[in-house]
Amino acid sequence: MTTLDGKTALVTGSATGIGYAVASRFAAEGARVIIADRDADAARAAATAIGADRARAEMMDISDEASVAAAFASAETDGWTPDVVVANAGVQLFGQDAKAADLDLDVWRRTVDINLTGTFLTVKHAVRSMVPRGGGSIILTGSPTGLNGEGADFTAYSATKAGIHGLARTVAAAYAKDNVRVNTVVPAYTETSLVTTITTDPEARAAIIGRIPLGRAGSPRDVEGIMVFLASDDGAFATGSLFAVDGGMTTI
Ligand SMILES: NC(=O)c1ccc[n+]([C@@H]2O[C@H](COP(=O)([O-])OP(=O)(O)OC[C@H]3O[C@@H](n4cnc5c(N)ncnc54)[C@H](O)[C@@H]3O)[C@@H](O)[C@H]2O)c1
Repeated sequence: MTTLDGKTALVTGSATGIGYAVASRFAAEGARVIIADRDADAARAAATAIGADRARAEMMDISDEASVAAAFASAETDGWTPDVVVANAGVQLFGQDAKAADLDLDVWRRTVDINLTGTFLTVKHAVRSMVPRGGGSIILTGSPTGLNGEGADFTAYSATKAGIHGLARTVAAAYAKDNVRVNTVVPAYTETSLVTTITTDPEARAAIIGRIPLGRAGSPRDVEGIMVFLASDDGAFATGSLFAVDGGMTTI
């Protein structure tokens, strides 16, 4: 027996980065995983890499409710109704997101549409699917920028992450009696394609690592273990909580 034997998990934004690492680890722990991403080709490639017996791809744009509903319906039709949903997809519009006085409304709206509205839509359809089946586990991907001044130059991104932390607590309280658990995982600066702008700038990279007490960048692998715990029955008593795996960035 492995930790996630018998479970099915849908992970948004799992064609690459943190989502891909989590989906791969879930599969290694015995789960079937749905690679749900707006990049259909990359999602198919990711599912193939994990293995056809363990993974399937769904094209899903989290900012479009019809697309989210269709992905859940397609999985359900084929007997892949998720017990676990990781609402992980997100964007950070480097070069456009800015301090409030300099932030274009369009950039604010595009960030909110994906990060906050998209996470809400994922959670909405996850809850609808889980309640009649006796419950499930929903995990959101937050950020230090939603907790402190870490994202001072990124108003839209930081505000959406603070919104995600609040969304998790609200939905956790609303559906605890239905045995739907909702938690947030907070990674620190993690070297994926999301943050290439920082990774390729030695000064910016050194500055951000300097704010991480454990003294290094995060890797997608760093958040896999807590995600497995929250997805598994070992996490059965955890809901409404925020789990930072951030090298001490927000906790020291
Ligand atoms: N990388 C970091 O430093 C860091 C730190 C803290 C939190 N996070 C959060 O972790 C999550 C994953 O980030 P990552 O670094 O792996 O990013 P990434 O850019 O490597 O991967 C993001 C994935 O999300 C998908 N995606 C984007 N918009 C989508 C949409 N509308 N619908 C469906 N899929 C969409 C992309 O196609 C991509 O596959 C994000 O929510 C991010 O905010 C990242």
